[in-house]
Amino acid sequence: MSTILISGASSGLGAEMARQFAARGHDLALCARRTDRLEELRAEIAAAHADRRVEIRALDVNDHDAVFEVFRSFREDFGSLDRVVVNAGLGKGAPLGTGRFDANRETAMTNFVAALAQTEAAMEIFRAQEAGHLVMVSSMSAMRGMPKTLTTYAATKVAVAHLAEGLRSELYGTPLAKKIKITVLYPGYIASEMNEKVAQSTPLMTSTEKGVRSMVSAIEKEVADACVPALPWAPLSLVMKHAPLPVLKRLM
Ligand SMILES: NC(=O)c1ccc[n+]([C@@H]2O[C@H](COP(=O)([O-])OP(=O)(O)OC[C@H]3O[C@@H](n4cnc5c(N)ncnc54)[C@H](OP(=O)(O)O)[C@@H]3O)[C@@H](O)[C@H]2O)c1
Repeated sequence: MSTILISGASSGLGAEMARQFAARGHDLALCARRTDRLEELRAEIAAAHADRRVEIRALDVNDHDAVFEVFRSFREDFGSLDRVVVNAGLGKGAPLGTGRFDANRETAMTNFVAALAQTEAAMEIFRAQEAGHLVMVSSMSAMRGMPKTLTTYAATKVAVAHLAEGLRSELYGTPLAKKIKITVLYPGYIASEMNEKVAQSTPLMTSTEKGVRSMVSAIEKEVADACVPALPWAPLSLVMKHAPLPVLKRLM
């Protein structure tokens, strides 16, 4: 049993990870802006697993001071945090140069700068504990530069993956490498509020329950990187990384 902090736990992948981690016997520190959703989720988990401890806090991850305060206060509540899942994210975006810097900036701030704040706050705790597991929720879109509405989003997702890899590289060969684990997840299409509109247009969409089962399994194994679900996304990641641009354009 361990204590897991999940940001963006009020819907989609974050909420489903909370359900599945609770079923596996973990205690939970959940945060997001919509606390009504967190309250409902806590009640649902308490009804299914009465012995699980679930603490919730309001958090806008773009309020960076609050990120540090909330993470520290969760640690004080539980005594330690074993795992932090940097999951909160936004799918807004518009083609570059079309007058929607506001939307692209909001995505960049939420998906990258706020993820950096969460990583700093988590690593501060893990370094003090000399233990912990950082999980970064990236995206299959990180495999390659993406066009149009996905351009900024994909750039943020490769950036967070590189934050995690940089940390892994820093820890490699040191005594902390065995104590602080780093996992990067690259989800494909998994049903959630973020991709409700995409849901009708792609046969590659996986249900929330099944997609998150794959995420949770990879997290529990503390793998370094995982495309989730593995099929079709692990083989597709090779195509996405290596296909020449004309081939890639036909796929997207
Ligand atoms: N679903 C997919 O197919 C897919 C694929 C690849 C990657 N991902 C990644 O998976 C993560 C979860 O997304 P999802 O698909 O579950 O979408 P979702 O259902 O829209 O959930 C997004 C979550 O992020 C939280 N969030 C957004 N902005 C926030 C802010 N400023 N402060 C705090 N929390 C914030 C939301 O909570 P509040 O609004 O309550 O604050 C919500 O709980 C994201 O990082 C996304 O990029 C998803």
